[in-house]
Amino acid sequence: MTDNASRTILLLNGPNLNLLGTREPEIYGHDTLEDVQELARTAAAELGFQLRALQSNHEGVLLDAIHEARGTAAGIIINPGAFTHTSVALADAISGVSLPAIEVHISNVHQREAFRHHSYISPVASSIIIGAGVNGYKLAVEQLVHLLQK
Ligand code: DQA
Repeated sequence: MTDNASRTILLLNGPNLNLLGTREPEIYGHDTLEDVQELARTAAAELGFQLRALQSNHEGVLLDAIHEARGTAAGIIINPGAFTHTSVALADAISGVSLPAIEVHISNVHQREAFRHHSYISPVASSIIIGAGVNGYKLAVEQLVHLLQK
């Protein structure tokens, strides 16, 4: 891994998270995707890391980004959105690249519909942050850096 890669965090947001700020604000709050990415980028910078952020509504784009993280990032923070509850492929990609991954959900999925209670990602995530609102992204950066520095 290059020096640059070992100080880089990949932040992935899945489907519909581009709508943050206007999407069901009573559940997801008023911060936009840009706000969330900036929050995470600032938290990373404070810890000496850079952050590369990508949002996609397409599972394959997220898969490619996870594959490309190998050799270009030290770890992954991912809010897979609804793919959390459907995607074996994303889980396989995360375990396939052998990088630490933090799963983030803005809302407390366990207080919501039953179909949101199961995650394909949780078994392959190093840590999971659920229901902390957008502050969960900051916590995820801190936790990932903590794991990387162990
Ligand atoms: C979410 C929870 C998912 O169930 C939902 O499909 C999302 C967002 C969250 O951040 O709370 O898109 O991952």
